[in-house]
Amino acid sequence: MNTSNIHWHEAVVSRLLRERMNGHKSFILWFTGLSGSGKSTLAHAVEEALYERGCRTFVFDGDNVRHGLCSDLGFSSEDRVENIRRIGEMAKLFTEAGVIALTAFISPYRADRARVRSLVAPEDFIEIYCHCPLEVCEQRDVKGLYAKARQGLIKDFTGISSVYEAPETPELSLDTSSLPLKECVAQVLALLDNRGINLGS
Ligand code: ADX
Repeated sequence: MNTSNIHWHEAVVSRLLRERMNGHKSFILWFTGLSGSGKSTLAHAVEEALYERGCRTFVFDGDNVRHGLCSDLGFSSEDRVENIRRIGEMAKLFTEAGVIALTAFISPYRADRARVRSLVAPEDFIEIYCHCPLEVCEQRDVKGLYAKARQGLIKDFTGISSVYEAPETPELSLDTSSLPLKECVAQVLALLDNRGINLGS
């Protein structure tokens, strides 16, 4: 698309002013992992903990976003690239709005996650790998999708017939097959505290 006739409008109410008003910084917590690895559960639990500290947050969740903003997209590699591109831009806008954006998408491709990372300042993108072996995700099969994928009823299913590229250097890797949820939340909060992010009281 030609953007040469489109001009950027600088807001008077800047991100910094919004962050000051909120009493905390904004950034992206990017959860990645296989379907059933616990991304959404963890993102929502972290959000709850942040809410209790008085933070402004929003969770973007694969299944929900695919009902609306990305309802025109499927699971081909092109569609997944576009899915993550949109979510990345949306998460960036939320950080501009002073909100902590938590995203829970499989986001299977390293290049796509790297692209989102490059959209924002280095300290604003925190990648959290929900590391759960395929066998465990498949055994849990909360939505019954792995069984369907094995029967060939769902094509391009991540981990079965479509690739998942695990992060090489995530800010945090959590073994969600063995660590209790509470411990995972504690580790995310500890990471944020270690980074000196003022999360309020
Ligand atoms: S992503 O690959 O583009 O990041 P996203 O996180 O939005 O995926 O959506 C994943 C969710 O869609 C899964 O948790 C699952 O419930 C559902 N789903 C439906 N079909 C597929 C598929 N072929 N591969 C993976 N997940 C699928």
